[in-house]
Amino acid sequence: MEYILYEQKEQYAVLTINREKALNALNSQVLDELNEALGQVNLEEVRALVITGAGAKSFVAGADIGEMSSLTKAEGEAFGKKGNDVFRKIETFPIPVIAAVNGFALGGGCELAMSCDIRICSENAVFGQPEVGLGITPGFGGTQRLARLVGAGMAKQMIYTARNIKAPEAYRIGLVNEVYAAETDEAGNVVKSAQEVLLAAAEKMASTIAKNAPIAVRNCKKAINDGLAVDMDKAIVIEEKLFGDCFETEDQKYGMAFFLDKNKEKVKEAFKNK
Ligand code: CAA
Repeated sequence: MEYILYEQKEQYAVLTINREKALNALNSQVLDELNEALGQVNLEEVRALVITGAGAKSFVAGADIGEMSSLTKAEGEAFGKKGNDVFRKIETFPIPVIAAVNGFALGGGCELAMSCDIRICSENAVFGQPEVGLGITPGFGGTQRLARLVGAGMAKQMIYTARNIKAPEAYRIGLVNEVYAAETDEAGNVVKSAQEVLLAAAEKMASTIAKNAPIAVRNCKKAINDGLAVDMDKAIVIEEKLFGDCFETEDQKYGMAFFLDKNKEKVKEAFKNK
């Protein structure tokens, strides 16, 4: 693939949007390749996925404005659907997806981050939905997911004003869970860039998730996502079903036996290679 890098590291993987010259802007080819790369994730082995952008400047600077500039109404709608289909695939991906936002996350970039389960960013990250300044609406889920994540009032302010916000403000409004700064020595020299610190944190989080019971983690994602889409009476039924589905699995048997048994080594041995 030309624009996607993919690296599997034990039980998690890192997917990088790699179109650095255009600040990783999403043209049709990038979206197609992202879709293809997601389809190729080995879900037997990979238990969490990190998505990031190439270079220290940008996560994704939006949908490709050059490509969009000459679209007809029908083509515009189809382009929106292409992005929405891929982002919905990420949102409903069976395993958790972490957005490691290493710089600009504008328009489609902010929308890509919002389709992930968890967002963390470097101190230079900038978020925004600048579309109305370009004469369009956010088109890859921004009008829907931003309001759900930060509330309708804040989402409307960001979208109507097209004002970009920096990492501390994104943290304050709950758009990101954590902001990572560069590591410096006593003399103030950078020993680890913010991007390196961010990626290390994203990988550590992915690896922590990957160590937990995989069926339970997947069921948690499904319960939260599906539950948020319906009223509470239906939501708790969704939870009950997914809770029940965990029982009789090796994960549940092992997890509980390990907690209850005094002889942890014996339990480990009994479940080895299962
Ligand atoms: N589409 C296409 N190309 C883009 C791009 C985008 N969204 N963002 C950046 N680029 C390209 C630039 O055209 C430039 O290419 P050249 O070197 O060939 O000229 C290169 O990336 C570097 O960009 P800049 O020179 O502009 O870099 P900068 O540091 O001066 O500015 C920036 C950085 C503020 C992010 C600026 O590039 C910018 O404002 N980009 C556009 C951001 C934007 O409006 N995104 C929303 C797009 S609409 C959308 O996403 C719709 C949707 O919801 C689906």
